[in-house]
Amino acid sequence: MEAAFSQFYKRTPEQRLAILADTLGLSETEQQELKQRAAQGDAPLLIENYLTTYQLPEGVAVNFRVNDHDYVVPMVTEEPSVIAAASNGAKQLAQAGGITAAVHSRLLTGQVVLSDVKVFASIDDWVALHQDELLDVAKQAHPSIVKRGGGPKSIRTRDLGEGFVSLDLTVDVQAAMGANMMNTMLEAIAEVVQNKLHHTTLFSILSNAGVQSLTTATVSVPVAQLADELADAQQIAKRIAQASRIAQLDPMRAVTHNKGIMNGVDAVVIAMGNDWRAIESAAHAFAVKDNQYRGLSQWQLEGDQLTGTLTLPLPVGTVGGATKVLPLVSINQKLAQISSPEDLMRLIAAVGLAQNFAAIKALVTSGIQKGHMKMQVRSLAMTVGATPSEVPVLTGQLMSLKDPNESQAKQLLIKIRNNEEEKHAKR
Ligand code: MEV
Repeated sequence: MEAAFSQFYKRTPEQRLAILADTLGLSETEQQELKQRAAQGDAPLLIENYLTTYQLPEGVAVNFRVNDHDYVVPMVTEEPSVIAAASNGAKQLAQAGGITAAVHSRLLTGQVVLSDVKVFASIDDWVALHQDELLDVAKQAHPSIVKRGGGPKSIRTRDLGEGFVSLDLTVDVQAAMGANMMNTMLEAIAEVVQNKLHHTTLFSILSNAGVQSLTTATVSVPVAQLADELADAQQIAKRIAQASRIAQLDPMRAVTHNKGIMNGVDAVVIAMGNDWRAIESAAHAFAVKDNQYRGLSQWQLEGDQLTGTLTLPLPVGTVGGATKVLPLVSINQKLAQISSPEDLMRLIAAVGLAQNFAAIKALVTSGIQKGHMKMQVRSLAMTVGATPSEVPVLTGQLMSLKDPNESQAKQLLIKIRNNEEEKHAKR
């Protein structure tokens, strides 16, 4: 096996497929499937050992009104109910006047970490004294960002304890996500630290914490809008606020509450060619307040208004990296009318808030299963092998059952096919 994979990275995708088929016994159909999905263009060059393209569905959520503008939002997700819930949540929030979203700041921080430091003050003093020189070194390491109006802004030291010290560099990365430029600058600074301060550095890398790229989305929903009868509406508003409070008190619930928010956030981040693992890590770290993991959003009942707020670290970019190479990103930016990273940050925060509203409103009213039923039944139909033309028929039949399962779906599909055959025979 080892010999077959020697120099694997030098092979073409077709050669890799042949090796895999041979060593792991892929059938002709499986090979065809992998071949058919292989992409043209630059995508194969984006990663090592490219084999094929794993596709996820992309749809657009509608009804978004953010800062008095209407948006459609491209979302990439495999979860059946996400786009329906986002559109539904957005519609209700638009009726309330729409979501307001604001970017607090948009900077990236990176770290040069030193170990075995005996006296923190000596490092701290040296960095303070050489601050300008270190910032110049960072600028020279990536002059193009300075020409574009951005670049390194400040450098400070933090005592991490146990002899570790972090030099934190803050950079205005303009429209890029900025990982590469940050890492280049940090490595240049690390070299100066080693050569002039004569202290070895442990590592240099950007921080994904994103706390200097915070964005807040807020909305106020008139309670009366939540149901036809005022008493019902008041009850729903109270229950939404209570559900949100539980996510502040109970980490077990907070994880699920935040997962619902990230259903929307990730789907947009992926559609926009950004690093969703970075956004996920940043969000979950930010969810820890006073040493407890808590819900990222909060809903509060204030008089006759239900007010929702969501703040997220969103260090996303709109140029460079994968945004350039993935073919759909520029079209998705156009669909969402994104012309700056701030536009994208505002839209993502708004999607997270609408997604969360839809989820907890469903949870405290009809329950999540009812709203998800049609989508789940459709995915059940696909699981048992219904073709695109059979899916609507089978979905319709499954919807009339109380709790449809896979074996019922299989039996119904057989019946549908038998009926079709009979019809053909009679013609
Ligand atoms: C499902 O993907 C997301 C929800 O569980 C979120 C929530 O419970 O708030 C519905």
